[in-house]
Amino acid sequence: MSEWWDDAVVYQVYLRSFADATADGVGDLPGLRSRLDYLAGLGVDALWLNPCYASPQRDHGYDISDYFAIDPAYGTVDDLADVVNDAHARGMRVVMDMVANHCSDRHEWFQAAVAGRPGSPERARFLFRDGRGPGGVLPPNNWQSVFGGPAWTRVMAADGSAGQWYLHSFDPGQPDFDWRNPEVVDYFERVLKFWFDLGIDGFRVDVAHGLIKDAALPDWPGADEGKGDHNYAMWDQPEVHGIYRGWRSIGEGYAPERKYFVGEIWVPSVERLTRYLVDDELHQAFSFDLLVQPWNAERFRGAIERTLAQSAQTGTPAAWTLNNHDVHRSVTRYGQRQDLVDPSPSDMIAAARRIGEVSLQLGTLRARTAVLLLLALPGTVYLYQGEELGLPEVFDLPDDARQDPIWLRSNGAELGRDGCRVPLPWSHDAPSFGFSPPGTALAPWLPQPSSFGKLAVDMQLDDPNSMLALYQRAIAMRGALFQASVGLRWHETGQHELLAFSRGDGTCVVNFGDRPLSLPQGWDLELMQASGADSDQAQVPANSAAWFAGVPADHGAKPGETIEADRRLLETATVYRSQSVREQ
Ligand code: BGC
Repeated sequence: MSEWWDDAVVYQVYLRSFADATADGVGDLPGLRSRLDYLAGLGVDALWLNPCYASPQRDHGYDISDYFAIDPAYGTVDDLADVVNDAHARGMRVVMDMVANHCSDRHEWFQAAVAGRPGSPERARFLFRDGRGPGGVLPPNNWQSVFGGPAWTRVMAADGSAGQWYLHSFDPGQPDFDWRNPEVVDYFERVLKFWFDLGIDGFRVDVAHGLIKDAALPDWPGADEGKGDHNYAMWDQPEVHGIYRGWRSIGEGYAPERKYFVGEIWVPSVERLTRYLVDDELHQAFSFDLLVQPWNAERFRGAIERTLAQSAQTGTPAAWTLNNHDVHRSVTRYGQRQDLVDPSPSDMIAAARRIGEVSLQLGTLRARTAVLLLLALPGTVYLYQGEELGLPEVFDLPDDARQDPIWLRSNGAELGRDGCRVPLPWSHDAPSFGFSPPGTALAPWLPQPSSFGKLAVDMQLDDPNSMLALYQRAIAMRGALFQASVGLRWHETGQHELLAFSRGDGTCVVNFGDRPLSLPQGWDLELMQASGADSDQAQVPANSAAWFAGVPADHGAKPGETIEADRRLLETATVYRSQSVREQ
């Protein structure tokens, strides 16, 4: 059965930085609502909202203090209902972020746990343990947090003496729940129902592989090697699957509506990943393989092949992305040095980062190219707000403006993620580039560089050569040229910097090199659109991509037909899926 997300283009809204309607320098739901026509005009099928629940914003919403409330800075539950209704009226679904590994230290449960006694039911909702060593001065084990530093923080006992420690995989302001406690399970079932009842179409599941820890909380032999990302006692424990079976059955209860779950899942193998994507758990997992690759034809092709093979093996459509709120923006990455080191598979933030001088001109050219490639691939495409404007990473934020816990916890050694979260420019000549309403006294929560002016939405809307126009055209044309669910066929072009593949009625050709490259002899295709200025029927300029109608005859398959290799992979996946249905 085909699902609405199978080939959807989903636009990630980092609400805090999208549009401010309430004149406080912080984006909000009324601001988003006022810009829904812009998103409908872009042609996206769905929105994913980063967490907008009540939160002290230590990690900008990934630290939730009330799962049943919207943060006052963003609006109210009614404001969200308005956004959902208006988005639905424009044919766009709305997906929220579900942060269930941890809450905020201001959550009432955690406050009660800190006030409670060791061994009390209040503490049992989290992972409180006695310390080691004389007087319990050492943390219960040697785990490191993902944001750096120990994964344990000590609380005060009622008499003012030092007490137990609690586990936090991320910041100390984000205590981890104990998901083996049925109270936690029930609580989140209520949370899901609350938002589904409001009309939310699905959830992106934050650190979906993290909710359960090895019950013995064993020391991690690799602790000296760095942060906690690779410590598999913290991640991917077998009991986590029971949680998603419960969530999925809640979603299915809304049939015929199709409630959707996409996981952020970091596991070491496709076999492990597949366990999350069986028919009664999550529908899809993000693939970050392409995002972390340097600008190189072979690397891109490798990542695409791996992701498609994974998609065939899991029997779920690929969820592609080149940008999100955690990584340096693609315009900047592709304008830096492209070292061919092997990216670490699990530390996306570090793996995506490039070093050296930035050429924004080159980076922009390549980012235009990359998105044409992305939109030609089979599966779901996730875009991150601002990439359609070609916004660069902002490196020169003042130190005192930076707010990311990665920056704060590393004492400034790591810049963190603020640079991709700078508020959007809407109008080139308005204060705050139109992010806040006219007359707003407060500056945007992160300062915008002056270079954002020429990238503002109003500068790009009527310019056919703008990044925005390219995104609009490509999204509009995608489905007609590269039909949904049709597999991809590579063509050997005879030039290693020129990648070419066909899908359905279209062919996408990408030149990763620094000089124009000619299409192979005998390709008689019609140019439909290009990322660069000088593409024609016969050649693709340096660092550019082009979409053609038609399929080269070099493989003898009819347009729309899936090649044998793809079919075999898909058959394997189908067998897997029907087995898992039988096992239910
Ligand atoms: C989110 C980050 C967040 C972290 C902790 C990640 O997966 O994408 O932005 O800081 O989870 O919730």
